[in-house]
Order: sequence, then C-alpha cells, then structure tokens
Amino acid sequence: MSGKRANAANKVKKERVRPLLTRGRIQKRIRELGRQIRKDFLGEPILLIGVLKGAVPFLADLARQIPGEVTFDFIAVSSYGKDTKSSGQVKLNKDLDSSIEGKTVLVVEDILDTGLTLQYLLRILQQRKPKHLRIAVLLDKVERRIANVHGDYVGFVIPNEFVVGFGLDFAERYRNLPHVGILELPTPE
Ligand code: IMP
Ligand code: MG
Repeated sequence: MSGKRANAANKVKKERVRPLLTRGRIQKRIRELGRQIRKDFLGEPILLIGVLKGAVPFLADLARQIPGEVTFDFIAVSSYGKDTKSSGQVKLNKDLDSSIEGKTVLVVEDILDTGLTLQYLLRILQQRKPKHLRIAVLLDKVERRIANVHGDYVGFVIPNEFVVGFGLDFAERYRNLPHVGILELPTPE
C-alpha cells in the first residue's frame, strides 16, 4: 500500500464496518457444522441453548442445518463491570424454561473471547446433569482466552479485533448485519 493510501486507511472519519466474513462464507460454514453435529449425535434429540442476544442469528441458521429432532431454549447472562473488559463475574438474567437433565445439550454462542462467560455457563449447566454438554460458537478469538474453555464446534477463528454483525453488537447496534465485520471507530482529531 502506498504511503498516501495507508494514511487514508488509518485515519477513520466516520464509524464504519470493514468486511471480514461474507454472508456466503458464514452460511456455508454453518451447513458444515450442522452436518457434523448430526453425525456426532446420530438419531438423538438435540437441545440448543442460545445465549441471548448475540447467539440468535447463529442459532436460527444452525438449527435449520441440523437434520432430525432439534429443540431450543434460551438463557441470558451479563458480566459485571465495563462492557469491553470482562471482569469474569457473570450474572444470570434469564434462566432456561425447562430441565436439561439427561439431554444432549449444545450451548450456542456468538463468540468465544476470554471464555469467562461460557466457563460460568458450563459450570451451572453441568450441575443439572445433561447427558452431553457441548459448545458451538460462530467465532473464536483464540488469542484472548483466559478461561480454559474450548469450542467443540467453531465457525471461524478470528484475529483479536472487535467485530460486529450476525448477532454481535456495539452498544446493541449491528446485530442485524448478515455478515461479520471489524468495527472501526473514528480516529480522535
Ligand atoms: P467472554 O466472556 O470474554 O468470552 O465474552 C463473550 C461475550 O463478549 C460475547 O458473548 C460477546 O457478547 C462479547 N464480545 C466479545 N468479543 C466481542 C466482539 O468482538 N464484538 C462484540 N462482542 C464481543
Ligand atoms: Mg454481547
């Protein structure tokens, strides 16, 4: 990139989203994950647990790519403290509607970042004695991991950048984008 273009690219005037994963790539990957999940749990009913609100688009598409019996439920959590820094303390805002005892459960999340949210969820869900407890995430920021949590089904490993779209938000906005992009905030003058 020439010096002039590099300068233009580095200086962001307006908030914008730089494309990272196209809608087509995401949909193709979700089809692969759906097939893999069904192969791993042949003939078994699968309960998808979506973590509100970010997991909603991923769960909706994934559920339709898993053949056979699939049901879903939702749970909502929030982390204490400032939104961008994970404090590791998680609060349960909405519990599941039904018992998961003896069931094959797949927790569906938009992104695995520090892993603290999923670590907390796995701990409380494991106590309820599911038959299997697995994790599906659309995105995995491997570099940021603090907790010892791994995704069983991972859509894409991405670099350590703040991303939005396909469920992921910045102050609740951008969840409706059909693709995923890197959020660029205006450079301070
Ligand atoms: P963790 O507990 O650090 O793994 O954080 C997981 C949660 O942080 C996700 O469910 C997202 O809500 C949020 N999060 C982490 N990284 C991003 C990002 O790049 N964009 C938007 N939200 C993010
Ligand atoms: Mg969020």
